[in-house]
Amino acid sequence: MNRDYTHRQIILHWLVVLAIVITYALAELKGFTPHNSRLHRLMVVTHYSAGFSVLILMLFRIYLRLIHRAREILPSAPRWPLWVAKAGHGLLYLLFIAVPLLGMWSLYLGQVPWALFGISMPHASHPDPVLRHSLRHLHALLANSGYALIGLHAGAALVHHYLLRDNTLRKMLPQRRHTPPTQR
Ligand code: HEM
Ligand code: HEM
Repeated sequence: MNRDYTHRQIILHWLVVLAIVITYALAELKGFTPHNSRLHRLMVVTHYSAGFSVLILMLFRIYLRLIHRAREILPSAPRWPLWVAKAGHGLLYLLFIAVPLLGMWSLYLGQVPWALFGISMPHASHPDPVLRHSLRHLHALLANSGYALIGLHAGAALVHHYLLRDNTLRKMLPQRRHTPPTQR
């Protein structure tokens, strides 16, 4: 079985990072724009679409992860930190699937029109403002805890690279393929 992260897995990892940065940035920055302005509305709808992209990309990543095993850390590390890393990765998958789903569910239960990539989305036939409110709170709470998890994850990658000096970060970076010089 191939033990490398494939090119597709690496591209997807960094695409997810980009989509998450955009989604968070829009959620935080929209607070600085006048509530009924076009810019505010644009930031809100783009937050929805960028967040939805995170969901789709994460699901695709899980599919790829099931068919490709991750590459070994070299030099090899003790076992328990590997389990901590696996649990952390599992939490990242869970979080960035649950957060967009909760956001979408809360909008589904409301009455305000909403859209993903310009396609208008449905509402429940019986709006439920109480549940909608709780889902929105849970969405915000989990999204805010995502900051800590991402910080720990990125910090761990940097510790591996700069202090432990193993290949953890390099295996998630695009590799240069060394093609042998053509023989004349
Ligand atoms: C990875 C994906 C996402 C992240 C990280 C994220 C993050 C956030 C954050 C940080 C906030 C502000 C919370 C606060 O006020 O403290 C927020 C608000 C909100 N998000 Fe998301 N979100 C994501 C995806 C989505 C999606 C897919 C939807 C729905 C289509 C959505 C709908 C909302 C709603 C309705 C709010 C409440 C405020 C508003 O109406 O703008 N989010 N989100
Ligand atoms: C923004 C949010 C991020 C998310 C949601 C995320 C998510 C993930 C997930 C789920 C994995 C596990 C891949 C697998 O084996 O299935 C992973 C691996 C990895 N990520 Fe991230 N990541 C993020 C940001 C970063 C950043 C900023 C860095 C670098 C500083 C980074 C470096 C790595 C590395 C090196 C691995 C491979 C770890 C290993 O296989 O042991 N990630 N990431």
